[in-house]
Amino acid sequence: MPLKLPFLWGAATSAHQVEGGNTASDWHDWELDPGSGCAEPSGAACEHLTRYPQDIALLAQLGLNCYRFSVEWARIEPRPGELSTRWLEHYRSMAACCRRHGLLPVVTLHHFTNPRWLAADGGWENPQTAARFARYCAAVIETVGDLAALVVTINEPNMPALLGYEDGVFPPGKRDRRARLRVTEVFIDAHRRAVEVVRSLRPELPVGLALAMADWQALPGGEERLAQTRRLREDVFLQATAGDDFVGVNTYTRHRIGPDGWVGNEPGVELTAAGYEFWPQAIAGTLRRAWRLTGGTPLIVTETGIATDEDERRARFIERAVEAMRDTIAAGVDVRGFIYWSALDNFEWHHGYAQRFGLIAVDRATQRRTIKPSARRLAALARGGA
Ligand code: FCB
Repeated sequence: MPLKLPFLWGAATSAHQVEGGNTASDWHDWELDPGSGCAEPSGAACEHLTRYPQDIALLAQLGLNCYRFSVEWARIEPRPGELSTRWLEHYRSMAACCRRHGLLPVVTLHHFTNPRWLAADGGWENPQTAARFARYCAAVIETVGDLAALVVTINEPNMPALLGYEDGVFPPGKRDRRARLRVTEVFIDAHRRAVEVVRSLRPELPVGLALAMADWQALPGGEERLAQTRRLREDVFLQATAGDDFVGVNTYTRHRIGPDGWVGNEPGVELTAAGYEFWPQAIAGTLRRAWRLTGGTPLIVTETGIATDEDERRARFIERAVEAMRDTIAAGVDVRGFIYWSALDNFEWHHGYAQRFGLIAVDRATQRRTIKPSARRLAALARGGA
């Protein structure tokens, strides 16, 4: 189905990272587990649960045209099969609020967090999770589908598969490659089922996946290792998007791979506060590759951004990333949007609150919001692009 939307210019958040008090989720327990390695618990986060009208108004005032947010499965289905009308209505109100402000709601159905009961029952290793996810998706689409402009089924399934099941830094904290392989299959099954659900309930609503991609670069002799690493990190998921309306590309940096794997940052290259190379042009490589591997599926930059306390660097990052995207479009790649991560300074998973990606600063003592100059820079680019 052709994507009949204006070019998207926006900013993103995810429920757990901004709402606060997401206590029925696996991440809540993980943050409080002294052995998890989490820097701090998410607590009240940005109180976006109640403050979303103000946050959405700020994004609209800036002149952006979309807001990407996620629906929290742990709230919607706190116990197996019990779907909460109250929370479904909450997310409907968020989508309605976006519409009132002229923002297109880009709704993500899964962004890393799971209901506690689901995690206790094998989480993403349990093949039944795919069908359970589809049941939850149906409830969300039935309630919010008429207001959504675009649906992202699962955000970066490749990250919880890697970080939760092989690297042990996300819940459930496993270090087991075979578990990662099982999880990868269940995520793919869940994505396919979710696409079916959206299409059966709302055939006009574009649906796709958002994938974490990096601009992988091989050093001499590293070609084979790179291909190997990227296969499970990205390629199997890109293949699983066949027939989708779009692919969301999330990109933050590049990785250089030698014969023995990742060789680390290149000495002398500027780093972000997340410790990655400052490499905004990475988006060009990932867009081109997603385009090639999907055989020409329309793409949306569903996330790119930088953690920094020097906002001037964020503005520079945004400018360069947009420039790289423009060159990619000029080279014939069909890109339909640029969504910055993140709208707000928020809870950056196991790193806690120290990494600030936001266009809008949040003082966590007072919950006061302050628009950063980089947000105006993005808005100016958006106006020019439009
Ligand atoms: C992405 C995640 C998002 C945020 C950014 C920095 O991998 O989708 O939630 O953590 O990284």
